[in-house]
This record gives sequence, structure tokens and C-alpha cells, in this order.
Amino acid sequence: MRILITGGAGFVGSSLALMLRRDHANLDICAFDNLRRRGSELALGRLQLHGVSFVHGDIRSDDDVAGAGAFDLLLECSAEPSVHAGYGGSPAYVLQTNLGGTINCLEAARRHHAGVIFLSTSRVYPIAGLRGLPLERRGHRLDIPDGASGLGWSASGIAAEFPLSGSRSMYGATKLASELLIEEYRAMYGLRTIVNRCGVISGPWQMGKVDQGFLVLWAARHAYGGRLSYTGFGGEGLQVRDVLHVADLYDLISIQMADILKFSGSVYNVGGGHARSVSLAELTAMCQARAGAIPIESNPATSDADVPYYVTDNTAVTASTGWTPTRNLDMLLDDVFAWLREHRVTLEPVLGSPSPASAAAIT
Ligand SMILES: NC(=O)c1ccc[n+]([C@@H]2O[C@H](COP(=O)([O-])OP(=O)(O)OC[C@H]3O[C@@H](n4cnc5c(N)ncnc54)[C@H](O)[C@@H]3O)[C@@H](O)[C@H]2O)c1
Repeated sequence: MRILITGGAGFVGSSLALMLRRDHANLDICAFDNLRRRGSELALGRLQLHGVSFVHGDIRSDDDVAGAGAFDLLLECSAEPSVHAGYGGSPAYVLQTNLGGTINCLEAARRHHAGVIFLSTSRVYPIAGLRGLPLERRGHRLDIPDGASGLGWSASGIAAEFPLSGSRSMYGATKLASELLIEEYRAMYGLRTIVNRCGVISGPWQMGKVDQGFLVLWAARHAYGGRLSYTGFGGEGLQVRDVLHVADLYDLISIQMADILKFSGSVYNVGGGHARSVSLAELTAMCQARAGAIPIESNPATSDADVPYYVTDNTAVTASTGWTPTRNLDMLLDDVFAWLREHRVTLEPVLGSPSPASAAAIT
């Protein structure tokens, strides 16, 4: 069996590739990536060391995707993954990669009769809808009041029934449009497809930056020094995300890969869930406990794409697959800090920064 992982040098793609290799010595695993994300090049040595082949290519090019050769399963992990992409400038890259690229990937999957597991995002849900949740302040975080609920939301989080009308950013729109096309390829060509709408994912080898990968950014600033800022929603760091350890995502994808026909056509919300949710202020305390305090500035202005709260309701994916996350936030942060310390020389040029940085919790 040959598995093609697009975005295979990225955080999620390379993590899945290496965990698959660890568990399946006989799989032919190919990582395909254009190395646009700064730090993705650091995956190449690890992929090579573990016998994962690498193709340098761009999913925007049909020829490049065809050049990766035949495959039985596609794990589509490539993207411009920032929700800020396109604001204040051209949306060309996010449109051409996240939507045009998906089409090229689906065409290749159609030609090879391959299965497709697609990493979508919680950002398919509209910004106004998420901003409209009735949140209350609880200590250093926002939360949905106990017992409150509406269509697709409750104190357990956001379910796939959450209303979809409204604007959601180019990032979210390209992912939702990709989901629609995936369903058409499934219905028209019999592709076996699974869509996972992921909340925030994190873990070692995530190249956290201000607009994507907030947990690693926060941890790296605490470990290496630098400044941070609570940005948006009053500037107190109360905004909340659930965070899924990438190893937990791998566990789910393993279940899905083992019986892709059974789960084909599914669209799941997938994330850490309420037990693994954290506000920026709470994350600061967890990082301080591991590495000491750094200055945190405050910028109350909220950016166009930001939302104050997103927590995944995993009820449906758990009922369908039996999967539930097993690593808690302390384990995740322990893994991230251990990695930051072990690989400081390699990582500091990418993750360290003496300049002020602001961040909000963003997928
Ligand atoms: N990390 C998260 O919190 C999160 C949450 C929800 C969904 N997702 C989705 O998961 C997937 C993986 O995200 P990630 O966190 O690993 O991001 P990442 O940026 O680390 O990895 C994406 C990879 O895709 C590559 N890439 C970008 N444009 C490309 C192109 N045109 N052709 C080929 N390769 C290209 C990049 O170089 C990078 O290595 C993405 O689809 C993202 O939208 C991630």
C-alpha cells in the first residue's frame, strides 16, 4: 500500500508520516511538500532517516501532483493554514492552494481509485456565529454557561450541526468549498473520503508563529525568551481554544485508515474537547510553571478573523469510531517543552524572536 501525504513536511503531515512508519514497517509512505512553511525543511532529515520518501512539489500544479506517482490513500495535510491569509492583500495563494490544490489532489485520487482523508478545520464555522455564542467569564477564561445550548453548540462545544451561513475567512471558505467537492467526488466517482474538521492541533515539530500554532509560539517564547501580547477581545487573554495532541489525531486517523469504507462520507468535528481547552491567560500560567515568566503585553483590538471561543464537541466522532483523545494538556506541554529544550540550536532560528510578537489563539 502506498500512502501519499501532501503537506508531508509540515507539522501534521510529517508527524503522521513518522507515526505511520513507526507502526507499519511495510507501508510505502511518500511526503509531498513545496516547503513554503518556514521550518518544514527541518522535517526532511527525519523523514529520510525513517524511510519516508520525499517529493518536492506544489499541489497547485497538476503536473507536480501527477509526478508523485500512484497511491492508494491520500492524507491531505497541505495548506496555507492561517486564518489571516488574504486579509489586507491578495488571497491568491490561499485560494490556489487550499481550493485549487484540493481539486488537483482529488483528480489524482480519482485517477488512482484512492481513498482520501482530508484535514479540514473548525474555521468552516462562520465568524459571526462563533462570536455570537453567549460566553461568560470564569476566572481567567471565557466559557459557555452550563446548561446553555443552541443548534450545534452547548457547554460540550461546537458540533457539526452548527449553522454554516455567514462569512468565515478565505481560509475557512476554501476548506468548506473543498469539503463540498470531496462529497461530489465521493458521490460521482465512488471515492472513499473522510473529512476531519479539526480544532487546534499541536505537538513537537509545530513551527508555531503569530498567526498559526499559538501553543508552540507561547511555549517557545517562554523557553527561549521574547515577548508576547494578548491580542483581541479586551486584551486580557481570555479567549479559549481546545488543543489536540497530534498523537491523538494519529490515533483517530489509524482507526479511519483501517476501515475507510465504513467511515466514508463522514464529516467529523475533531479536537481536544472541553477537558483540553485553555485560554491564553491559563496557558501563560502553564508555561510559566515550566520556564518562568516573560513580559506579556496587551492589545485589546480584535482582528477581523478572530473568535473568542472554539471548543470541539467530539460526541459524534467518538460515537462513530470509538476514538477519544487520551493525552491531556499537561502531557502536551511537557512534550513541547522537552522538544524545545532538546532541539534549541535547531529551533531557535525559526521559533525564537527578540521582537515583540502578538498572538491570539487561532487555528
Ligand atoms: N495545526 C492546526 O492547528 C490545524 C487545525 C485545523 C486544521 N489544520 C489543517 O491541517 C493541515 C496541516 O496543518 P499543519 O498544522 O501541519 O500546517 P503546516 O503549515 O505545518 O503544514 C502544511 C504544509 O503544507 C505545505 N504547503 C503549503 N502550500 C503548499 C502547496 N501549494 N503545495 C504543497 N505543499 C504546500 C507547507 O510547506 C507545509 O509544510 C492543514 O490542512 C491545516 O489547514 C491544522
